[in-house]
Amino acid sequence: MSMDARKLYEGKAKIVLATDEPDRYLMVFKDTATAFDGKKKGLIQDKGFYNAQISARLFQVLQSQGIPTHFIKLVDERTMLVRALDIIPVEVVVRNIVAGSLSKRLGRPEGERLPSPVVEFYYKSDDLGDPMICADHAIAFGFATPDECIALRELALEVNSILRPYFLERGLELVDFKLEFGKPKGAEVPGAGAEKQYPARSRLILGDEISPDTCRLWDVGTGEKLDKDRFRRDLGKVEEAYAEVYRRVCQTA
Ligand code: TMP
Ligand code: ASP
Repeated sequence: MSMDARKLYEGKAKIVLATDEPDRYLMVFKDTATAFDGKKKGLIQDKGFYNAQISARLFQVLQSQGIPTHFIKLVDERTMLVRALDIIPVEVVVRNIVAGSLSKRLGRPEGERLPSPVVEFYYKSDDLGDPMICADHAIAFGFATPDECIALRELALEVNSILRPYFLERGLELVDFKLEFGKPKGAEVPGAGAEKQYPARSRLILGDEISPDTCRLWDVGTGEKLDKDRFRRDLGKVEEAYAEVYRRVCQTA
């Protein structure tokens, strides 16, 4: 079957393809880049390759530490075989250091260290520009149940406590990042009272990607930005930054 016939969804940075198995998807990482809700568009040479490889490695690290992820294997340089998920429309951001929208919203200087990680929820909606929400909004509008909101926060903090030292060992400060979680596609929705038997923590699976598109990573020595902010802010040396993160994450043991 052609790629077009299998295409389920084409996003700003990835294409999702059906496979012969209903519970498996292929995720193809593209070189296209957007920022500011798609208003800024561009191409980052080989970004698809770097992000697929970096995400694969980070999913493997997380999986080995007990975080369930959708990652199964890389099938080629920029294509990942994943478990099919129904994505929860809540983007979970974890921040260790003030940057980006937090700096703007609360007037704090970029680089200010937070005493403990801050977790934020955003409603995943391109039309609305991913507005920030709180758990009560997610519950009120049926995006997630109360126990799922707790589990989203716990899982995101666990991911942070695994990835932060992992990056630090490679000379990278994990400033902040965004995660998306889902539930296995077609999985039976537990009925009332079944929550105890099927706690949210064991239903949720980490999806999407973890890459310089979705993380802020600063060089520990120089503070140099090695992530998509180089594209967002026209800082130059964009490809070089992705290549450097790839080298440090994937070419070290
Ligand atoms: P922010 O400071 O712009 O809110 O971004 C916080 C983190 O989330 C940062 O690491 C970049 C990531 N992010 C995405 O992955 N997708 C997005 O659409 C946005 C706005 C941020
Ligand atoms: N991915 C988002 C967009 O295309 C924003 C971003 O990453 O800055 O608009």
